[in-house]
Amino acid sequence: MASSRRILLLVMVRVAIIIGMMRIKDVDTMIMTTIKGCPQLETIARNITWTRVAADPTLAPKLLRLHFHDCFVRGCDASILLDSTASNSAEKDAIPNQTVAGYEVIDEIKARLEVVCPSSVSCADIVALAARDAVSFQVGPMWPVSIGRKDGRVSSSSEASANLPSPFSNFTTLLQDFKNKGLDLQDLVALSGAHTIGVGHCGLISDRLFNFTGVGDTDPSIARVYASLLRAKCSNLGANNNVVDPAIEMDPGSGSSFDTHYYTALRQNQGLFESDAALLTDQRSARMSRVFETNRELFFVAFGQSMVKMGAIGGVGAGEIRKNCHVIN
Ligand code: HEM
Repeated sequence: MASSRRILLLVMVRVAIIIGMMRIKDVDTMIMTTIKGCPQLETIARNITWTRVAADPTLAPKLLRLHFHDCFVRGCDASILLDSTASNSAEKDAIPNQTVAGYEVIDEIKARLEVVCPSSVSCADIVALAARDAVSFQVGPMWPVSIGRKDGRVSSSSEASANLPSPFSNFTTLLQDFKNKGLDLQDLVALSGAHTIGVGHCGLISDRLFNFTGVGDTDPSIARVYASLLRAKCSNLGANNNVVDPAIEMDPGSGSSFDTHYYTALRQNQGLFESDAALLTDQRSARMSRVFETNRELFFVAFGQSMVKMGAIGGVGAGEIRKNCHVIN
């Protein structure tokens, strides 16, 4: 019974992927027509991203997260890149964005493009390309990035806090957060697989480890050995309060390679955040995680397809092509 359900799920995931690939073909056509404005775009973006990621591999997860945090607030319009002003606290200063990084890579690509093809490529498109190229630098999933987004003129830290999913959320809230952006259950499970690379900070799991229900306890859903390892790694947090907040691989033992091990860790109750562990609390997402864990190719295709959907949040949007990604023209 369980295995026939799994086969059905596998078939459903495959069908969803085939439909998605048909959509990706349309996107391909769009790229071909819009890239004419700057034929060197993809090469310039890829070369700079690859050079930077080769020198500092921790930039790959950072650039991927930058794109996610851009798209979930006002669509993919580079609103995350705008600096705060005297009268406005911008997205990048919202608490969930304080560990976002990689801005200097976007600046370098933008500076080069402004020399080669001035005012023709938006900062939002550069963010989308850098995320894709950062991931594909390794043997990771590939996906087509459509070009033609406009840069927004509004950026608000309160909007960022309201729209970005929280690591403390349960499954129902996460799914709703994704649905609010036009993404579905498969997108939630596939895109959560981004946590196969990169780190999270102890400060965000200290209650989970040291005070889960207010009586000095640990979240019982974390595997026991893993929980004691995390407690040891995060033990200095209180002492150093706000001075050093240690960073921990979100995919234990495999946090620098883009693979399916995140789903293995989940199954072994080693999800770092409550939002990771939440994927096991719904039967459909738990089964889908299993499918991705055991089928790398399927995961890569599903991940790429969901990245295309995520990269289309907000469509091309209304706005401008900024000259400098930090400020509106
Ligand atoms: C499902 C909802 C999600 C939640 C609640 C969530 C939350 C988080 C949190 C709290 C961190 C650690 C931040 C820190 O302590 O520095 C993180 C890191 C990260 N997230 Fe997510 N995330 C989600 C979905 C996504 C998606 C959709 C992507 C990309 C497609 C993504 C990519 C990443 C990456 C790559 C990192 C590591 C960043 C680094 O190493 O600096 N996340 N996420």
